[in-house]
Parts: sequence; structure tokens; C-alpha cells
Amino acid sequence: MGSIGIVLPGPAAFDAWRDQARRVLAAEVPPEQVEWRVAGDAAGLFAGTPPPSGAASPVAVPRAFPALAEIAIRHRDPERFALLYRVLWRLTHGTHGLMEDRADPDIARLEAMAKSVRRDAHKMHAFLRFRCIQAEAGPHYLAWFEPDHHILHAEADFFVRRFAGLRWSIITPEASAHWNGAVLSFGPGGNRHDVPREDAVEELWRTYYASIFNPARLKPAAMRAEMPKKYWRNMPETRDIPRLIAEAPARAAEMVARGATPPALRRQRDVHLAPPEGVAPGMDLLAPKDPAEALAALRAEVLADQALPWAAQATQAVFGEGPIGAALLFVGEQPGDEEDLAGRPFVGPAGRLLDRALAEAGIPRAETYVTNAVKHFKYTPTGRRRIHQSPDAGDIAHYRPFLRREIEIVGPRLVVSLGASALRALTGKAVAVGKARGQVLALPDSPPVFPTVHPSYLLRLPDAAAKAAEYQRFLADLRAAAATALG
Ligand code: URA
Repeated sequence: MGSIGIVLPGPAAFDAWRDQARRVLAAEVPPEQVEWRVAGDAAGLFAGTPPPSGAASPVAVPRAFPALAEIAIRHRDPERFALLYRVLWRLTHGTHGLMEDRADPDIARLEAMAKSVRRDAHKMHAFLRFRCIQAEAGPHYLAWFEPDHHILHAEADFFVRRFAGLRWSIITPEASAHWNGAVLSFGPGGNRHDVPREDAVEELWRTYYASIFNPARLKPAAMRAEMPKKYWRNMPETRDIPRLIAEAPARAAEMVARGATPPALRRQRDVHLAPPEGVAPGMDLLAPKDPAEALAALRAEVLADQALPWAAQATQAVFGEGPIGAALLFVGEQPGDEEDLAGRPFVGPAGRLLDRALAEAGIPRAETYVTNAVKHFKYTPTGRRRIHQSPDAGDIAHYRPFLRREIEIVGPRLVVSLGASALRALTGKAVAVGKARGQVLALPDSPPVFPTVHPSYLLRLPDAAAKAAEYQRFLADLRAAAATALG
């Protein structure tokens, strides 16, 4: 038989590849006689005859093969289809134990390809950023992303699960994915300029990032290793990196000479870190003395914490954010759906309300520290939605030592508890928010606590008049808290 030419409908069309591979295999066409390409690709010379028609019957292969093939086929290596077929051929022509033979060049190559694809998917989950535009049907979230491999179709489901309630589009150079709240569809690729570069949230995030950027601790190589440069341009917080890096030596020298100028709600302070719980005084020589290092170490601990079984279903732990030395520290309950995806506290509906109220009360959020009592999103999965589940007393107790250390490192003058869970985490017992609201609670081993309601309580109020009145009360609480912290 002459060579066979197979055209696949897409660059990662695993089912189509499998069907065609079964056909040529049934006809005993050896790998070197099959040419593969993707419909629409620049054809080049493609002289093969079409593959044999007829039913494609399943082939018995070790289960590890389809599992690996389904991932590896997303790699951009043009040889991937042929490589997969060669491995399939060898598996069905007497090479026993092939899948376990990591030294085999074909298997090693497939494994390396799958690893690279998985890494690409991880980067997409972590570094993709949506920008909000106002479309006819309401807000629409647009993201530009440049994957290394053909992962958009496979990963789109992840974003459907995570952003089920929003309308969004992800544009990549080769294809785009669109979710209208009910149906996922795919379209042609686009251009970076199809996605706006700014929205209000980004401005806030950039201000925040620039304000926490410490020029004296600049490690560009480590930054690049963790977050490859090509993702920087999609991430609002990184847009200023080149300028910040360029300015770093001068800013560092200036900081040494003068000390950083504390904005209104930020202050300089001496930091005396107590040893973490369970470590005797004097035995903490390895514990970081610098608060930024201590906070980074604590953050790493929290991100790695998987002690509670339900925490595994969260995308990631969400740690607090804001400057060390912030005079006001806000504690919420736990990350919600959007926080879980973004890895940042209070960026969803409650966060937007909090931002608005802070702005109205004259408190720049970037100068406060915002965190949660519980660091993972606890939810009940129901179909495509993830329904918030309140943390119980055990959950709050589990995260309490983390919260106490976080507060200790940040060293605020006043801690504002938002809602009942935060108040329980701070006081160690159930306290009625309605009774304690607006008072300054003196606590042993902690800065004073100022209880108020959670912004989501305001969001839930059904009556517009009550909502407006409660919002004004919330504003009054925030103003009183700021006055207490600065007084
Ligand atoms: N609610 C919270 O308590 N915290 C968040 O981060 C978001 C919503």
C-alpha cells in the first residue's frame, strides 16, 4: 500500500486521531507510511491517499497509553500524531512493557510533551486575567492568553466551572473560547489588541503592586523563573515591572537614605516578631526576622496547607494582601468563588462593595491590609455553580493560628472584623455582631478589634431602603475605624 494521508479536524483532536489510527492499524499500515496533518494548516506536499474507510474497532492497549496520548496530543510538536501512532503500532506489535520503559526514546518524548502541556495548563489557570467590558448583554469578561500548546479546548471547561456565572471570552492567537453563561463555543483566534488593556480593577491592582514592590529586595531572575516574561503583559500588576526594576537601584538608595515615606494610613514601626506558636523563645533562630520574609514564609505555609479535607476542592488558598505596617487590617470570612480563582481576597461582589465603601469613607484600600479568617473557599458543587458554604467553628479554629501570625506580622493598629466568622476567629468564641458592632474590643495578645457587618450582608438585604440605610451605617463604621486607627 502507498502512503496514507490523514487530515485531522483540529490540532488536538484526540478522538479523530484515535479513530483514524485504529483504521490504519487495522489495515496494517506501518507508521512510516502514514502522514498526518491538521485541516487548514499550510499543506506543503501531501501526496497520501485517504485512509481506509469502515468501522474503527477498539484496540487493546495498556490504559496508560490513551491517558498519556490525550495530553501529549495537545503539544505543538508537529511530529506528535506520528509519534503517537508509532507508539500505538509498537504496543500492538509485540513491544511488551513499553509504557513502563521510561528509557525508551518514544515514551520519554511523550512523557516530556505531556509534562510541558500540563505546565502550560497550570500557567493558564494561574496567569490568565480577565478584563471587564460593557457589552450589550451586560458586563463581558475578556482575556488574552498565549499558550505554548493547543490547550484552549481542553482547558476551557476549567474556566466554565470557575466562572459559570459570568459571560466571558478567552482569545488566543489560534482560537477563542466563549461562554455566554449557558453554552461554550469556540471560534477563530484573535489578536492581543482585541482585548482592552485596562479596567478599573486593574488600576487598583497595579497601584497596590507598585506600593508593595520593595526595590531593596529585587530578584529579577527569581521573578522571571516563577512567572515567565511572556505572561507579564497580560497581568496588570506586572506591567510596571520594567519601570520598577529600572528605578529600583535609585529607589533602594533613597529608601536607605531617608526611609520610605509612610502614606496616611501606613506607618513605620519597629517589628518584634514573637516565635511561632509552639516554639520556645530563643529557639526561633531560623525564623525570618524581616517582616516581609516572615509574611512570605507564612503565605507559603498557608498555600501548602491541605489539612482540612474539603480544602482540596478549592483552586488555591487565598492569603491576605496589603502593605506590612498598614494601620487598618480587615478580616473577612473566607474567599468566595471569584477570590478562589483570582487567589486574592475580596475581589468578587462583596469585595467590590467593600472597595466602594472604602473609597467613600476616604480609606485607600491599597493602604490597608485585607485578609480572611478561613483561607480556602468552602463550597457545595451543584452543577456548574459553586455554592458558598459557611465555615464551621472547627474550620475557623484550624486557620486561627495562621490569622494570628498574619496579624502579628502586619502589625495593624486596629483590626476590623467583617461579619460573624471573622469575629469568632479574632475573639475565639461566638460573639453577636449586632451587639459588639462599633465598639473597640481590647483583646489579650492582639491589636484591638472593631466589629462590623460583612459586606455580603448588605448585598443580601432585599429591601432597597434598608440596604441604603445599612450601607450608611457601614460607612459610618469604616470612618470610625479609620479615625480610631489614626487617633
Ligand atoms: N467574602 C469574604 O469574606 N472574603 C472574601 O475574600 C470574599 C468574600
